[in-house]
Amino acid sequence: MSLSKRPYKGTRDFFPVQERLRKYIFSHMSKTAELFGYEPYDGPLLEEVELYKAKSGEELINEQIYSFTDRGDRFVAIRPEMTPTLARMIAQIHRETPKPIRFYSIPNLMRYEKPQKGRLREHWQFNVDIFGAPKRQGEFEILQIAVALMEELGATNKMFEILINDRTIVETIFKKIMGLDDKKVHKLYKIVDKSKKVSPKDLKEMIDATGISEEAKEKLHKYLAFSSFEDVLSFFEDEGQADCVKDLYDFLNLVNNSNLKNFLHYDPTIVRGLDYYTGIVFEIFDKHPENRRAICGGGSYADLLTIFNEPSVPGVGFGLGDVTLTDFLKTHQLLPDFTKPCNDLLLTFQDENAVSVCMNLATELRRKNMRVITHLESLKLKKIFPLAEKKGAGFVGMIGSKELSTNRVQIKNMKTKKQYDICIDEIDEIVKVIHEI
Ligand code: HAM
Repeated sequence: MSLSKRPYKGTRDFFPVQERLRKYIFSHMSKTAELFGYEPYDGPLLEEVELYKAKSGEELINEQIYSFTDRGDRFVAIRPEMTPTLARMIAQIHRETPKPIRFYSIPNLMRYEKPQKGRLREHWQFNVDIFGAPKRQGEFEILQIAVALMEELGATNKMFEILINDRTIVETIFKKIMGLDDKKVHKLYKIVDKSKKVSPKDLKEMIDATGISEEAKEKLHKYLAFSSFEDVLSFFEDEGQADCVKDLYDFLNLVNNSNLKNFLHYDPTIVRGLDYYTGIVFEIFDKHPENRRAICGGGSYADLLTIFNEPSVPGVGFGLGDVTLTDFLKTHQLLPDFTKPCNDLLLTFQDENAVSVCMNLATELRRKNMRVITHLESLKLKKIFPLAEKKGAGFVGMIGSKELSTNRVQIKNMKTKKQYDICIDEIDEIVKVIHEI
């Protein structure tokens, strides 16, 4: 039996074309986070399963985690998300670190999912989190970063929106208004989370299966029909529970005069699948009808550090996946062409004796930060241009017998076809010609 050449199900090989795209996305992510003063961090690929059991939620543990027992009998998992690792790290340093703490990372994560559009088993996720920020200001900044990245990549509010909700609102309706116990509340969270992805018939069956009363069902349907924050306000005022709306109300007022306003929409179905969120939660959605999915998800989590017996240090953050972001950028035709590499010069020789002259010239040009490919054997003139095209070289350099004897190089601009005859020792002159594309 021969071995498969395919990568493991739901993972990807990154050939140069895909790697260029990934680098492009990652560099925009890092740049955006650093523009806001966020510092990079990373953690281990493996964590003890207990870390996720504490607050990540049943779905992640029971269905998605890659776990095994190591040789020392420890039950460990490949990280399915970064937030618990980050919380563990912040728990080590928060006492002596000035607040707010601003961290970002782009880890690869593994979840045992059914591979499909927008969902793989391994993805890279841009994580941006702030700890110890004043209430609402943390959410404000975190959402600004997400929007800044999207705008940096060319996206506008015609292409994406931020759907927002507050877990306090959801808790209030489920617990105080519908009077449900923790077990039923937990089930309803999962149902509400899935409610837009299933048919009305399936939704009804799922709700019926929870065994909640007709009266509770009626409230739930009312809740699911909210289409604006005004609906929420008047419902909770009527129910005498206006308090639960206050945080989101204040937040929306705060951002009312900022660019965020153009992106935010209230959505009752945004509850987030992970258990640790405690306040405002959000997802960034593609508006394109053929790619209606979440590119990013996050929210505030006030108590995650308490699992390490530390005091609460409120955190807010998001995770934005490379797979969903790439789908979004492709859908809206926002990606540059990555099919070819990008080089400044393809340097060739047509006389075997020019090898070392060619190599030395390439070395000098690289010292000036020019990306130079040398062709390692004599190349006929007619083959130079197709090769330069393939290698994405803006210029070609040619050293034939005549050039070798006169210590010169022919430099040709691939676009304009203009040719320059330059002395090989005039490195700055060659650099100047190439820079003036
Ligand atoms: P999450 O909603 O599980 O949140 O994931 C965030 C984003 O990662 C999703 O919106 C999606 O873009 C991407 N993503 C998740 N799973 C997959 C997958 N199997 N394949 C491709 N992309 C995927 C979290 O993980 C939170 N820890 C985020 C966070 C950070 N909250 C606060 N700080």
